[in-house]
Amino acid sequence: MSPQKNYKIAVLAGDGIGPEVMTEVKKVLAAVSKKFFLDFELKESLVGGAAIDAIGEPLPTATLKACEESDAILFGSVGGENWNSLPPEKRPEVGALLPLRKHFDLFANIRPAGISPILKNSSPLKPEIIGNGFHFTVVRELTGDVYFGEKKLEKDFGSDLMIYKKNEVERIARVAFELARNSRQKVTNVDKANVLATSQFWRSIVEEIHAKEFPEIELEHLYIDNATMQLLTRPADFDVILAGNLFGDILSDEAAQISGSIGMQASASINSKKFGLYEPMGGSAPSIAGKGIANPIAQIGSAAMMLEISFGETEAASAIEDAIQKTLEGGLLTADIFTDSAGEQKVSTSEMGDSIIKNILK
Ligand code: IPM
Ligand code: MN
Repeated sequence: MSPQKNYKIAVLAGDGIGPEVMTEVKKVLAAVSKKFFLDFELKESLVGGAAIDAIGEPLPTATLKACEESDAILFGSVGGENWNSLPPEKRPEVGALLPLRKHFDLFANIRPAGISPILKNSSPLKPEIIGNGFHFTVVRELTGDVYFGEKKLEKDFGSDLMIYKKNEVERIARVAFELARNSRQKVTNVDKANVLATSQFWRSIVEEIHAKEFPEIELEHLYIDNATMQLLTRPADFDVILAGNLFGDILSDEAAQISGSIGMQASASINSKKFGLYEPMGGSAPSIAGKGIANPIAQIGSAAMMLEISFGETEAASAIEDAIQKTLEGGLLTADIFTDSAGEQKVSTSEMGDSIIKNILK
């Protein structure tokens, strides 16, 4: 018998719905570990609002250390009204998530989106636009742009520097083209090159990488304002969408919403060594936290992405993905995707988790 493979995972549930959806992931990982003979060593640490409340800072040193000693980070969600009065760098989002992204150089944010006909009632798009479903991936640069450019907050002005360096654009462009190579051979680059110098520069580097390294891939360019419209009218035309940090942030929320619910969308933030932080695209949703109604699929799907991208455990990852599909096909839907149509049954967070596990173990 081959030795049991061991993976260390830093589990940072955070605040809001984070802890309750993470509970389901832990159950799923236990099931996967049994079935695929994998050993997961989970180290749970505080982050975000939960860490502020417990020890007064959003990203405690012990948490960062636990992440450094792990093979991957499973991240829940952070942020909420309770901590909005704090200065930005002490808030859960800016004080925890952004430093984690920067510290581990997680420059590539991969956000797959899509919808199968089963969920077409849950999407705000018309059935004729959804057609036979659509699937595309947003590749968002995650460690540059206005997020990390010099910031000034003075009495009579505020500014955030939008800046991209050549190597930052090159490496994210390669991630997008490589994904397209294994997909439908098309990259849509999204920028605002009609106005912004940063975008003109970005576009020229994307074109250079395309011409030199990926000439066989189709490359189209869209301005961000136009792109948000095109996604609503012809979602099936997109394969890989490449964007900077800010535009990618906007596009990925739109992508998540047209896919049925932001509660469904997983995301991977990885560095050049494929070390990654895996988190749902959605936020902490404090208004529904603790009610047991949050959709755990985004968090469970993030764990599947971790197994695939950081650990190369493709079989285990597919087993989770398939189990999610089977559960949805069976009509079990959490409140965010429930439409009260025939064959649907509204389920809680834990019922959704249990059903996915049952399908994994089948
Ligand atoms: C996301 C979130 C974050 C971002 C926030 C919470 C800082 O919206 O992961 O998309 O803007 O990147
Ligand atoms: Mn966002």
